[in-house]
Amino acid sequence: MRKTRSLPFVLPPLLWCLLTAVIAHAAPTGESAGADKAGSDAAPAAVSALEYSKKGADTCIKCHDEDSEYPVLDIFKTKHAMKADSRTPFAGLQCEACHGPGVGGALFMEQALRNGSHVGKVRPGEKRPPIINFGPKSDEPVSVQNGMCLQCHQGNHRIEWQGSAHQANDVSCASCHTIHTAHDPVIDRVTQPDVCYKCHLKERADFFKPSNHPVRFGQLGCSDCHAVHGGGTSTLLLRPTLNETCYTCHADKRGPFLWEHPPASEDCTLCHTPHGSIHPALLTKLPPLLCQQCHSQLGHPSVARTTQGLPSGNPSGFLLAGSCTNCHSQVHGSNHPSGVKLMR
Ligand code: HEC
Ligand code: HEC
Ligand code: HEC
Ligand code: HEC
Ligand code: HEC
Ligand code: HEC
Ligand code: HEC
Ligand code: HEC
Ligand code: HEC
Ligand code: HEC
Repeated sequence: MRKTRSLPFVLPPLLWCLLTAVIAHAAPTGESAGADKAGSDAAPAAVSALEYSKKGADTCIKCHDEDSEYPVLDIFKTKHAMKADSRTPFAGLQCEACHGPGVGGALFMEQALRNGSHVGKVRPGEKRPPIINFGPKSDEPVSVQNGMCLQCHQGNHRIEWQGSAHQANDVSCASCHTIHTAHDPVIDRVTQPDVCYKCHLKERADFFKPSNHPVRFGQLGCSDCHAVHGGGTSTLLLRPTLNETCYTCHADKRGPFLWEHPPASEDCTLCHTPHGSIHPALLTKLPPLLCQQCHSQLGHPSVARTTQGLPSGNPSGFLLAGSCTNCHSQVHGSNHPSGVKLMR
């Protein structure tokens, strides 16, 4: 016997009506919709309980069983199916908490069962087929799809979702999240990048360059630096500034230093790329060019001299030209009493 067959509907009818009404009211009106969770005290609207299937998931899995093409039943292995947690879909409207009022209504249900499908069928008095689908196959605007999720997920990390890069560009929750699976790939560091690369091809190329942040090996995920649901910076960084984001893992670069190197405390990306580079240590350029963007070699005490004692004029006239860092090894700042020239 499958566990999914035994989902009796235990809510007393009055409570059921209320719950139904609350959710129907909160759900499909778009991203601003709704209360924080099912059963909150938002004003109930007069929506008939008949809009929803009386038997919840049992109605749906009559047809969407283990033989159907789409692996619907794997949802029972996820947190969404924890009936003991009153906030979850399966403690309430079940499938229809996300998919919207479904094949409820005796007439429609009969029709659906006779046809073996509800797809494309319009309920009496309605203009469109009842079930909301998600992702590329959906007929609904992204705001309606996301509204279904935001009924329950407005808090936490979604507080800054509205107006964030993904929301503003009509990216749906379902284009990153897979719901009918035991392990949603986007949550897992190892499988996450591939989800992002569906849309972010340039970033994929960067992470395959010889020097890179090791997301390919699951050592860190995109979401260790990015607040994908929205955040303070335009590039969705996890911390209020770029450098703060870097310090979460590279705390030794934070200082305070006795002798600061101003570009390092200002913006790590003056010298580093965040994702990947063809140069070692994620550098944007190699020294000396890297350093010479800001430091002219003229007057440098170690510039090679001609026999007359004048600077040689050779553009790479430094002793050990390529290796500014051979002498100035403390490019991120120095705490040595005599480290003013960042040499120790
Ligand atoms: C009478 C059988 C039957 C019942 C009952 C049924 N479905 Fe379906 N449903 C189908 C068939 C057939 C399809 C089309 C083939 C497919 O995608 O599996 C479908 C498609 C879907 C789709 C994709 C819709 C689309 O427009 O592409 C969703 C989502 C869905 N069903 C959800 C539900 C939910 C939720 C319930 C319960 C409220 C439910 N179904 C009840 C037979 C049924
Ligand atoms: C937490 C929200 C949620 C719940 C609860 C939920 N679904 Fe879904 N369902 C989705 C999303 C999102 C998709 C799009 C594909 C994906 O993410 O897996 C989907 C896809 C589907 C599809 C495939 C449609 C297609 O494009 O072929 C069917 C069928 C379906 N759901 C049926 C059900 C049934 C039956 C239940 C109850 C047993 C259910 N869903 C419960 C969110 C949900
Ligand atoms: C009826 C309320 C409800 C709806 C609707 C709902 N969720 Fe959830 N969701 C929950 C609850 C409750 C949890 C468990 C939270 C926890 O354990 O802290 C959860 C967990 C999750 C998780 C985390 C899963 C994990 O393994 O950690 C994701 C991702 C998620 N939901 C995405 C979605 C998306 C996308 C939709 C819309 C397609 C959606 N949810 C619709 C209530 C809901
Ligand atoms: C750009 C991809 C992307 C989009 C779009 C997206 N998510 Fe997520 N989501 C993630 C990633 C990555 C994680 C895991 C890391 C984290 O928590 O930030 C996650 C985690 C979650 C979690 C579980 C942890 C938590 O933050 O509570 C929930 C719930 C969730 N998302 C809901 C949603 C909802 C609802 C939407 C749509 C409004 C959505 N997500 C849109 C990528 C996305
Ligand atoms: C369905 C396509 C899609 C997916 C999947 C997706 N994104 Fe995006 N992302 C976009 C779009 C569209 C934008 C806004 C336009 C732009 O700036 O490229 C965006 C913007 C961003 C930005 C801000 C860029 C900027 O210039 O401000 C970051 C960071 C980002 N996405 C990271 C991620 C991460 C991390 C993931 C995976 C967890 C992900 N995205 C998954 C489509 C997607
Ligand atoms: C080590 C931290 C870190 C990791 C890991 C990371 N990013 Fe970024 N990402 C950044 C920083 C920092 C920026 C901003 C660069 C800037 O403002 O110049 C950025 C910028 C972006 C942008 C905007 C690019 C642009 O040109 O505007 C996108 C899109 C993006 N990241 C996607 C991703 C994706 C997808 C992943 C995972 C595959 C990822 N990032 C992993 C730090 C990171
Ligand atoms: C979530 C943790 C994390 C964050 C945040 C982070 N890094 Fe890293 N960084 C790593 C890991 C892991 C490595 C791999 C080397 C190692 O094992 O120490 C690394 C390596 C590096 C390297 C050396 C690469 C090489 O090939 O030698 C540089 C440079 C670097 N990070 C710069 C940055 C910058 C700049 C930022 C902010 C945009 C940043 N990191 C944010 C984890 C992080
Ligand atoms: C002025 C240019 C410059 C700036 C700005 C800069 N770095 Fe670096 N960084 C370098 C150079 C050059 C190397 C390679 C050092 C070497 O070859 O010994 C390096 C190496 C690294 C490394 C790997 C070796 C190590 O020392 O652990 C990390 C991690 C790193 N930088 C992080 C950061 C972070 C985080 C920031 C911002 C707070 C930052 N860098 C700002 C020039 C810079
Ligand atoms: C984005 C511009 C920038 C880059 C790139 C840069 N620096 Fe600097 N550097 C500065 C500034 C600004 C100061 C402080 C101004 C001053 O005191 O002359 C400074 C100070 C220094 C000092 C101490 C000077 C003194 O008089 O105390 C040394 C040594 C130094 N940088 C070496 C390097 C090396 C080596 C590199 C390459 C790895 C490098 N810098 C890359 C901007 C830069
Ligand atoms: C052979 C060692 C050596 C190399 C290589 C080297 N420097 Fe220096 N640098 C010095 C010494 C020594 C000083 C002077 C220290 C002092 O006056 O106390 C100095 C001083 C500086 C200063 C401070 C300027 C001033 O007038 O005091 C800057 C900036 C600087 N170097 C940048 C660079 C850059 C950029 C490179 C690579 C293109 C580089 N150095 C390569 C040894 C070196």
